[in-house]
Amino acid sequence: MSTAVAEATAPEAEESEVQSFLVTFIVRRFDPEVDEEPRWVDYDVELYSTDRVLDALHKIKWEVDGSLSFRRSCAHGICGSDAMRINGRNRLACKTLIKDLDISQPIYVEAIKGLPLEKDLIVDMEPFFASYREVQPFLQPSSPTTPGKERTQSIKDRAIFDDTTKCILCAACTSSCPVFWTDGQYFGPAAIVNAHRFIFDSRDDAANVRLDILNDKEGVWRCRTTFNCSEACPRGIEVTKAIAEVKRAVLRGGR
Ligand code: SF4
Ligand code: F3S
Ligand code: FES
Repeated sequence: MSTAVAEATAPEAEESEVQSFLVTFIVRRFDPEVDEEPRWVDYDVELYSTDRVLDALHKIKWEVDGSLSFRRSCAHGICGSDAMRINGRNRLACKTLIKDLDISQPIYVEAIKGLPLEKDLIVDMEPFFASYREVQPFLQPSSPTTPGKERTQSIKDRAIFDDTTKCILCAACTSSCPVFWTDGQYFGPAAIVNAHRFIFDSRDDAANVRLDILNDKEGVWRCRTTFNCSEACPRGIEVTKAIAEVKRAVLRGGR
C-alpha cells in the first residue's frame, strides 16, 4: 500500500498569499428620527476576495458606524432575511461574493423596493407576509390522517411542485417586480410561488380555494411576464414558470 505524503506549507506562507483590497461601498441610509429623505453614505472597507457583501456590512457596523441597520441571521442563504439591492440588482448579501463584483467601481447597496422603508436597509415586510398568508400556504387535506399511517405521495407527484418548495421568503422576487412597485396590492410572485407549492400537491384538497383567491384583479392576471422575479430569485426557482402554471390551472378550473 502506498502512502501519499503532502508537502507541508508554513501557515505564514499561505496567509501572505491572501491579498486584501480597499473597496468603496455607497450605502443608502435613512433614519426616520432624523432624516427627511434617504441619503447616500460612502465607506471604504478592507476586504478579501473571499468576503461577501454581508461581511462588508458587518465591518462597517462593527468598526465604523454601529447605527447601520440591516437584517441577517443565518449568513448562509437559508433564512432569507438579507435580501437587498446590490448595484441595482436584488440579491442576498450573504451569497454575494466580493470577487464577483467589479471592485474598481463603488458598490451601491440599498433596501429592496416596493415595501415601506423603515431604517437603512430594513423595510416593513408585513405587506409581503400578508399576501403570503392570504394564499393559505399550508396543507389542507379533506380527510383526517389515519393514526399510524403516513399520507403518501408518488415520486412523480412530488416532482410537480419540487421547485416551489425551495422558497425562503426573501422577497427578492416580489420587490423586483415592476407591477408590485406600481401596485402594492398585487399578490406578487412570492405569494403565487407559495400557493403553487400547495395547489399542485396531490395530498391537498384546497387547490380551488387558492385558485379562486388568485383569480382576482390583484391576482395572477396582474403578472406581465417580465421575468425580473425569476432573475432575482437566489434559490433559482423558475418563478415566472410557476406563475404561468397557476394561470393555466385557473383557466382549467383546477390543477
Ligand atoms: Fe425569495 Fe425566490 Fe422565494 Fe421569491 S421565490 S421569496 S426570490 S426564494
Ligand atoms: Fe412581475 Fe415576475 Fe410577473 S417580475 S410581472 S411577477 S413575471
Ligand atoms: Fe440568512 Fe442571508 S442571512 S439568507
